[in-house]
Amino acid sequence: MTYVIAQPCVDIKDKACIDECPVDCIYEGERSLYIHPDECVDCGACEPVCPVEAIYYEDDVPEQWAEYYKANVEFFDELGSPGGAAKMGMIPLDHPIIAALPPQA
Ligand code: F3S
Ligand code: F3S
Repeated sequence: MTYVIAQPCVDIKDKACIDECPVDCIYEGERSLYIHPDECVDCGACEPVCPVEAIYYEDDVPEQWAEYYKANVEFFDELGSPGGAAKMGMIPLDHPIIAALPPQA
């Protein structure tokens, strides 16, 4: 199981979540952050600190953002399991559903 970052993160990228994650599994894309589904240990520390409530346990993702589970998983299709987000820096990529969104206020 994993936690998922949904649409409210897009173009906001507050990054408070990064400091809470004990396994450094929250990766930065161009317009959103993404949680690695295999590296996340479900500690839940990231969820309450996001000021825009973008983070959900995978079973609790609101219906309108259900596709964000897939977005977080598929973001890593080509990256694999880097084993730590800090060393990766900003990855100049986004999942297609996020790349296709109009600019978020
Ligand atoms: Fe995004 Fe919230 Fe983290 S806005 S970067 S999920 S603190
Ligand atoms: Fe990290 Fe949040 Fe998972 S703090 S381990 S991404 S639940």
